[in-house]
Amino acid sequence: MKATAKAPANIAFIKYWGKRNAKLRLPMNSSISMNLTEIFTITSVEFNQNLKEDLVRIDGKIVSDKEKERVVKHLNRVRRLAKIRLKAKVESHNNFPKGTGLASSASGFAALTLAASKAAKLNLTEKQLSILARIGSGSACRSVPSGFVEWRAGNTNESSYAHSLYSPDYWGICDVIAIVGRKSKKVGSTEGHALVESSPFFKIRLSGMKKKVDEIKMAMKEKNFSKFGEILEKEAINMHSVMMTSEPALYYWTPETLKIMLKVIEWRDQGLESYFTIDAGPNVHIICRKQNVDKIKARLVKLVGIKQVIINYPAEGARILK
Ligand code: PMV
Repeated sequence: MKATAKAPANIAFIKYWGKRNAKLRLPMNSSISMNLTEIFTITSVEFNQNLKEDLVRIDGKIVSDKEKERVVKHLNRVRRLAKIRLKAKVESHNNFPKGTGLASSASGFAALTLAASKAAKLNLTEKQLSILARIGSGSACRSVPSGFVEWRAGNTNESSYAHSLYSPDYWGICDVIAIVGRKSKKVGSTEGHALVESSPFFKIRLSGMKKKVDEIKMAMKEKNFSKFGEILEKEAINMHSVMMTSEPALYYWTPETLKIMLKVIEWRDQGLESYFTIDAGPNVHIICRKQNVDKIKARLVKLVGIKQVIINYPAEGARILK
């Protein structure tokens, strides 16, 4: 009873920040994202009668008790559905540093959900997989379907899941990630979500959300890159305003983050069109058309403080490898 799955990380254009139900990880608003080709997790799960307890290794290391507990709870969900009691061995590999705002929990829980459910001989639909992944880590539900994805907020366990808006080949856009920090963040997103209500700006953020989702979907439908970019860049600043005004305040940016943001605006004024977005970490995602990737990379690598540049295209969702 063994299966291996690969799942991509995803970058949100309209963000998920704040939950209406923490236990089920039901979000306050719908979100929109794209799966990424170059940052992913590969996870194997084996249920075996010889195991006395669950074994969890991530990137070759035995995980902390807190991390293990989250994985074991997820395995328990799968065991309940499959009506089995066998313990499991979980081996997971990220091809990127975890805990830096590069969505390792999204790719991680999407890969774990698919591998564990297959190993347990469950044949779940994409929707069921997305729901299950969401309970493990909210944004993981968006790494299950392919390409450009919408997570419909819903208001129950069954109505909150992600679906594909467009396949990966729909639109030739890229996410050029400028890595400026590799350290794990101090406040993870699980704790961060819980603070949203303490920001005086959160109500205002929520009140504009539905319109924003509709507008970005329209821009995607029309392949209007400028409109799309304007919406996603403003959205990132909107979310970070809530983060920085919550109590305690969450500052995910470093001076390098801001430097790149300003460069993106400067380059745009010079005619090189791209837009930035940032998750719960210091790294900057630069969204551009395919034909501008090389120019953007060439300018980025000249800046001081950039540790790595990763070029991503729209990717398939979670897949079984073996
Ligand atoms: O799924 P979580 O709990 O890691 O939350 C993700 C939060 C952001 O990355 C900041 C935004 C998003 O929609 O991906």
